[in-house]
Amino acid sequence: VKKSEVVRLILKERWRAAPYHLQANAYAPINIALCKYWGKRDQELNLPLTSSFSISLNNHGATTELKINGKENDEIFVNDILISEDSVFSKRLIDFLDLFRHDHFPRFTMIIKTNIPIAAGLASSACGFAAMTLALDKLFNWQLPKDKLSILARLGSGSACRSIWDGFVEWQVGVSADGMDSYGIAIPNKWPDLCVGLLIMSLQEKNLSSREAMQRTVMTSPLYQAWPNKVTHDLFILKQAICDNDFNSLGKTAESNATTMHATMLSAWPPVSYAIPETLHAMHTVWKLRDQGLAIYFTQDAGPNIKLLFQKNDIQNVREHFAAVDIVEPFLEI
Ligand code: PMV
Repeated sequence: VKKSEVVRLILKERWRAAPYHLQANAYAPINIALCKYWGKRDQELNLPLTSSFSISLNNHGATTELKINGKENDEIFVNDILISEDSVFSKRLIDFLDLFRHDHFPRFTMIIKTNIPIAAGLASSACGFAAMTLALDKLFNWQLPKDKLSILARLGSGSACRSIWDGFVEWQVGVSADGMDSYGIAIPNKWPDLCVGLLIMSLQEKNLSSREAMQRTVMTSPLYQAWPNKVTHDLFILKQAICDNDFNSLGKTAESNATTMHATMLSAWPPVSYAIPETLHAMHTVWKLRDQGLAIYFTQDAGPNIKLLFQKNDIQNVREHFAAVDIVEPFLEI
């Protein structure tokens, strides 16, 4: 199934509608997976091999402004810098926009503003595609329900389907070939004491995309066969932990899920590792602090940066050990 077919299925008669506004903007948060999406069953549609579970970081994300520009080409500005049309980043965005124009559709100017580093394993593509989908919905006045917006965002980047919501989100794996049952669903539970600490170790763009790393892992890692069972188990425990407000169970499950994902990468061939010395140093610090009685855990995605998980009453303690930490309270009202 092609992406364009999914777009037609979702937009139906809205597909050929002219833009309703000349300009629209939207915001979407980054999301951090507590149970990771790692492996696709369909490369074209970004359909996953397993479900996954995340938390959105309310005030950390991307704002996308879309304008009808009347020019020959699309223009993309990221944090006030005009991005070359040949860059991998703009190609991905332009391919995505191509899904929504036909002969009479004009070109766009996209003004993307993020308060997080791009492509450093901080889910910038997730919030970027989610914000773009929400902006398109406004520009064309589609008024789509969120499950459909989540499917469209997934076509841009898998994990973007979870950035359509705040708070806890489950991306259901689905079974259908067109992916109409594979989208994010908001989990209503809140956890006001939960904190996420972002430890930025490197602002360098990663040299291996998550798309490539995922595929290589699925194809070559002897450990990958254990991954689907691990996800089923972790999802169950995470949801239970959220219902019981059991922070240690949540933290342990999230950390173990991340280290298992990275173990599948390390055992791929050629091996994949996103860690740099600072990443390992931070992990050891977390383990040492935990031995000393601090309830702190970490998770890591397709980049060197570490995300800490802890609770509000330990903020001071965490700051003492990680001077550069950027602390987010995902359930703080903004
Ligand atoms: O959506 P992508 O292609 O950027 O993949 C994201 C993969 C991880 O961040 C490593 C895990 C996840 O579930 O977010």
